[in-house]
Formats: sequence, C-alpha cells, structure tokens
Amino acid sequence: MRATPESGPVISLSGVVTRFGRNLVHDGIDLDIARGEIVALVGGSGSGKTTLLRHIIGLTRPAAGEVELFGEPLHDGSVHEQIARRRRFGVLFQQGALFSAFSVGENIAFPVREERVATDDEIRQLVALKLAMVEMEPQHALLMPAELSGGMVKRVALARALALEPELLLLDEPTAGLDPDRSSSFVQLILGLRQELGLTVVLVTHDLDTLAAMSSKVAVLADRKIVSYASLEDTLKVEHPFIERFFHGEQGRRALARAREDG
Ligand SMILES: Nc1ncnc2c1ncn2[C@@H]1O[C@H](COP(=O)(O)OP(=O)(O)OP(=O)(O)O)[C@@H](O)[C@H]1O
Ligand SMILES: [Mg+2]
Repeated sequence: MRATPESGPVISLSGVVTRFGRNLVHDGIDLDIARGEIVALVGGSGSGKTTLLRHIIGLTRPAAGEVELFGEPLHDGSVHEQIARRRRFGVLFQQGALFSAFSVGENIAFPVREERVATDDEIRQLVALKLAMVEMEPQHALLMPAELSGGMVKRVALARALALEPELLLLDEPTAGLDPDRSSSFVQLILGLRQELGLTVVLVTHDLDTLAAMSSKVAVLADRKIVSYASLEDTLKVEHPFIERFFHGEQGRRALARAREDG
C-alpha cells in the first residue's frame, strides 16, 4: 500500500530519465523530499535543474521513471484531481514569466480568479497583502510588467506564487538580480512562511549566501544524477569535482564563512 499523502514525501522522483534528441540530460534521478524541507537544487548550467522542476510540476514528462507529488503519481487521476493538485503548489520561473499584458495586480490575482469568484474588494486586499509580503507598495499593483525592474519582476512573481497559500513552492533562481538586502528579505520571508505554514520549498540557486542562509538540504545534480542529497555541512564532505568547484572556490568559502558567523 502506498504511504498516505500526509506522511510520505512531498516530492518523489525515481529513475527519472530525460532526453532531448541525442542529449541525455537526466539518467536515473532519484530524490525524495520530505515535508518542511527547504531544498537547494544546485548543478552546472545546462545540467537540467529547470527541466527537473518542469517535470515536478507536470509541465513536461520524463522519458522514463516516476514522479510523485503529495504521494500520488503526477499523471494519475481525473482532470479535476490534477487541477486540485495544481492548487497546492506555487512556482516562480527562472524568467519571472509575468503576463506582460496584465498589470502587477492582475498578475497576482490571476491564480485566485482562476480558482474562485472573488469581489473586486477581496482581490484588492489580497493583492495588497501579497505585495506587502514582498516589500512592495499597494500602488505598485497598477504598474505594467514592462515598467518594473528585474528585481521587482522577481518579487511580483513570488507574490503570485504565494497567492493561493501553497504547501509547496518551486523557485528557479529567486534571488538572481536582487541586491543583497532584497535577497536577505527574501530569505526571511521564506523562513517565516516555512514556520507558519510548514511550507516545503525547492529552489534552484547559484547564490551561495541564499543557499547557506536558508536551505535545510542541498541536492546536487551532476553527471546526470543526484550525486548527493544532504545537509550543507555533509554536502561539503562529499568528494566530487562539481561540489569542489561550487562550494570550495573563493566565493563559496566567503559565503560559508558569513553563514557560520550569522548562524
Ligand atoms: N525544450 C527543450 N528542447 C531541447 N533541449 C532542451 C529543452 N529544454 C532544455 N533543454 C536542454 O536540456 C539541458 C538542461 O537544460 P535546463 O534548462 O534544465 O538546465 P539548467 O540546469 O536549468 O541550466 P541553467 O543553470 O543555465 O538555468 C540543456 O542542455 C538544454 O539545452
Ligand atoms: Mg535553469
């Protein structure tokens, strides 16, 4: 019998294989992520991190292997059940991916309007609340995406990912392009939500400060597999050329030293 959705892993990948033509990207990915973890997914550029996130949310389907979300095979169930599952996670794509023809407010309200009928007042309040969470002003709701800076696009996309109060957040480079102050506010926001809501988070990041400050586990994607899934402390002990380059280079050593001072 399968574990109940509440007790088993939130995300379970087994034997995931991905191929684009002759390009073998994943060759047997195994990874179980438990509720409440904040997992930093790291790997070289082009190693298949974004593609893995896309599999997890069902945007793409691996050539082989299983993907389970909340204890259920991703592609099982009726359309109705799949939509219900869709409401349980929020996503921030690598490129921000706001709807350019919609204002900031309409972008944030979009997942809510898709789910239920809400009055204009309810929507206004919700949008203001989510904007406040990402340290933006209510009047920013009226701006169009083209009028935002890169960092603001990220924050609006995060506000939208949080609109339905998800159990699971998938974030692709959430702090790329944010200044250090904004990055640390982002870290505080996510840690707070984890406390409050028991949120599970998977984030792809190259930002070692963010990684060291917030992740409970690090998943290393290299050689087309997950070569290590452990706490940061234990990850550092793993001998692998990618881990060596990523964590023990100059920038890595500085970030880790800062994290040790703070925590
Ligand atoms: N739709 C697609 N069609 C063909 N090849 C693809 C497609 N999507 C991704 N790839 C290839 O799969 C590999 C992994 O891409 P992916 O975007 O997942 O990497 P990544 O780890 O997210 O990299 P980065 O850190 O640069 O964002 C790359 O070689 C890429 O060219
Ligand atoms: Mg990517």
